[in-house]
Amino acid sequence: MNKHWNIIEQYASVLQHTHLKELFIEDANRIDAFSRTFPFAFVDFSRQRINRQLLSELCTFAREMRIKERFNEMINGAILNVTEQRRVLHTALRTPKGKEIIIDGSDIMKDVHEVLDSIRSFSESIRSGAKKGYSGKQFTDIINIGIGGSDLGPNMVCNALKFYSRRDIAVHFVSNIDPTHLAETLKSCSPETTLFIISSKTFTTEETMANAMAAKEWFIKNGGTSWELHACAVSANLEKTQAFGIQPEHVFGFWDWVGGRYSVWSAIGLSIAISLGFEHFEAFLAGAHSMDNHMSETKEEDNIPLLLGLIDVLNSMSYDIRSHAIIPYDEYLRLLPAFLQQMIMESNGKSISIDGHELAHHTSPIIWGQPGTDAQHSFFQLLHQGTEKINTEFIVCARSLNPMGDMHDRLLANCAAQSAALMHGKTSQEVAQDLSTLSLGDEEKKALVPHKVFTGDRPSTTIMLRELTPFTLGWLIALYEHRTFVQGYVWDICSYDQWGVELGKVLAKQILPAVKDTTEISKVEDSSTEQLLKTMHMFRS
Ligand code: F6P
Repeated sequence: MNKHWNIIEQYASVLQHTHLKELFIEDANRIDAFSRTFPFAFVDFSRQRINRQLLSELCTFAREMRIKERFNEMINGAILNVTEQRRVLHTALRTPKGKEIIIDGSDIMKDVHEVLDSIRSFSESIRSGAKKGYSGKQFTDIINIGIGGSDLGPNMVCNALKFYSRRDIAVHFVSNIDPTHLAETLKSCSPETTLFIISSKTFTTEETMANAMAAKEWFIKNGGTSWELHACAVSANLEKTQAFGIQPEHVFGFWDWVGGRYSVWSAIGLSIAISLGFEHFEAFLAGAHSMDNHMSETKEEDNIPLLLGLIDVLNSMSYDIRSHAIIPYDEYLRLLPAFLQQMIMESNGKSISIDGHELAHHTSPIIWGQPGTDAQHSFFQLLHQGTEKINTEFIVCARSLNPMGDMHDRLLANCAAQSAALMHGKTSQEVAQDLSTLSLGDEEKKALVPHKVFTGDRPSTTIMLRELTPFTLGWLIALYEHRTFVQGYVWDICSYDQWGVELGKVLAKQILPAVKDTTEISKVEDSSTEQLLKTMHMFRS
């Protein structure tokens, strides 16, 4: 870590013992200092454990670390994915026409816009009905088969922007190798009117290939003909897509400089363009691009992904808070926590430095969450009174896309109340005061007090969008991408590889023969796995 972090640690160690509500008393204009307003969004980090001095030290740290400069190197093609020797250029996918990004002597923006143009014409031909299935009927169901970044992004975005979608074309997402996922999806589909999008950067991922093969079998078994009319692929592996019987005009390419969890902006977003229309997909890209410009150009003090990323680092390193709950107070954003789990934990869940040494500090927080208000009635008990330290993030929209009576007002009131409750808490005196009006004995009241006390002092951040639109969603997701970049850069890790997912894949291949055939069990190396497999065979027999 940069030497300057020691100074930050010193400030943090003082603040560690100051209740968050004290910070509001000490600084009457705290909300102005620790929030930023955009025409379409408001970001409030005033309930984080910082003060003006600490914020200023964090900005000095950012300048010394050259965080913005490193970001600008990344978006211009620096090889940040050092273990795979790849550039990290998902930002190019939302860069408008007119800018050149020259990589190895050629302008990648030309390729990006060529693919975008083909997404436009393909999605329009599906939506207009110009492209039809083998029996001449229009497509009514689109099934995206993919996993990880080839599923979570488009699935989350199609859900989040469902308000803007065509209701006569249903979009489904199949990811799990559990056959139930595909089987249940196919139950409502007909081969005549179903289009499959096989999304896999590598076109080798076990789950995706198994589902794609099973889908093709289902299609043929149920009377489908001309598979090539019903299948398309999004992949960087053109040989394999061809071998799978997908015609070249139905293959949408992307490049090794797009990481899976950063690929929603690429042709992986084909299902989004079909469901919402290309104009909405473009607006989604434009929102992300505006965040790219913000991160690239805005001074540290006002740079939202930079500040939030540094606060994440501060929580992890100085305050021992490594559990980060993401609570969207918006039903449309139900899948956002799952999407961010991959983005943040697959990027920064590492314990080795860029140059291969074991790190002495902590890295990614654990990301989890569910929408509010549902979550209030399940795990919020722990947020308010549990022993675990948690940083909570509230995401809410000022305007509802589906107003009904005062329900959205109530949603907002709940969101605001929760962050206030987490910060203020409730003292034993306040609890005793409440209890005094009840007709309970003194002993009973006394016994109840500790159970009803809320310590408060629990940090949170609130992000409010004016309204959920393709633009604001793109802006929000890019905010998280850049925040993840900031974390990873400061922690000195390679945020853009994912070696940690490999071992399990290899072992699954080794174990598979023993799942199929009892005589193979003796080859399994550990007794726990062996017993699991024996019991499975017994249950199956
Ligand atoms: O196993 C992890 C992973 O490589 C993710 O990073 C990626 O998003 C996912 O698998 C899917 O990969 P592909 O698009 O190549 O099928």
